[in-house]
Amino acid sequence: MSFKTRLSKIISNFALTNGKSSFTFLVPWDFQNQTFCMAHKINAYNNVLELIGNTPLVRLNKITAGFTGNFFAKVESFNPGHSSKDRIAIHIIEEAERKGILTEGSTIIETTSGNTGFSIAMVSIIKGYDCILAVSSKSSKDKIDMLRSMGATVYVCPAHVSADDPRSYYEVAKRLHKETKGSIYINQYFNELNIDAHYMSTGPEIWKQTNGYITHLVACSGTGGTISGTAKYLKEQNPNVKVIGVDAYGSVLKKYHETRKFDAKEVYPYRIEGLGKNLIPGATNFDLIDEFIKVTDSESAHTAREISNTEGIFAGYTSGAVMQAIKQLNERGEFGADDNVVVIFPDHGSRYMSKIYSDQWMEDQGFLDTDKVDETQEIQYVKG
Ligand SMILES: Cc1ncc(COP(=O)(O)O)c(C=O)c1O
Repeated sequence: MSFKTRLSKIISNFALTNGKSSFTFLVPWDFQNQTFCMAHKINAYNNVLELIGNTPLVRLNKITAGFTGNFFAKVESFNPGHSSKDRIAIHIIEEAERKGILTEGSTIIETTSGNTGFSIAMVSIIKGYDCILAVSSKSSKDKIDMLRSMGATVYVCPAHVSADDPRSYYEVAKRLHKETKGSIYINQYFNELNIDAHYMSTGPEIWKQTNGYITHLVACSGTGGTISGTAKYLKEQNPNVKVIGVDAYGSVLKKYHETRKFDAKEVYPYRIEGLGKNLIPGATNFDLIDEFIKVTDSESAHTAREISNTEGIFAGYTSGAVMQAIKQLNERGEFGADDNVVVIFPDHGSRYMSKIYSDQWMEDQGFLDTDKVDETQEIQYVKG
């Protein structure tokens, strides 16, 4: 096709938007990577990484009906990798580039329950790095398949071994880092930049979105990066903002926060991925968290389904956990009528199709054996 023909094809594809003077160019696929004299007029991002952050704050309406206070969800599934972990992936990788630690052909290694791995894999694709991920066997099959689909090499490690066991995903990642020349180990659990990423993005966004009227931040704690970084920024603006961390039964975080002692007796298997820990993460600043509240696997799963069915936000498992915490806090009278409570929904429900959104899985866990009624509709089969 001659240049003139291509040009006329593009021009014929112009669409005037909203009567304004901006145009949408429907560029033929063979043109997309080419420099074109009118390219500066195209309203497009250079790549998906530019879409990280600036996620919306959405008022919760039905699920909080009858609650005292105003509730807003920071919906992190609007990130291009569908979770809050995009923020730390881009921040830590670009910081390593700035320091000259990462160079072309480098390998990035990480331990991850899934979301961080997805985000690192996404950033690695755009920037041209190899990505190796050590994941817990507790991670859903969907998540593991997704990581592989994003070009990562995945090692699945047993979930129910202690953190210092050579088979744990922490130890496997450390070993792979030693064995792989020119690799970097992100180490999100002990990387200060994890906190920094949220201090520089999530915190300022929430402050701006609430015009400083936020009274409470309620967030899940896994590595602790989200809650610590966001809390640090918000408390710098207003030390009265109350920060409540959400922990799982079977995790040590709440007890450690209260006693500053690691209690191994607190550790036992649980289902929620990404919430709580069997070690004390260096990326958690416990001094910035006013209190922890624990939630159960079952109630969190049902509450995630409830968010989807009431708010139309397809919620991940930990979004259910943090919302379950809101219910418990509301019940104990934590919030005043004028309080503005921000809750962070870390990821998207599509990552849990074979878990909390599978009736079979819910039944297998014994979660359907409760007095809770889910709104999930029966499938209607039309006879052929
Ligand atoms: C789904 C999900 N929710 C919540 C968290 C907790 O976030 P953070 O690690 O920043 O504490 C994670 C972390 O892995 C996660 O994957």
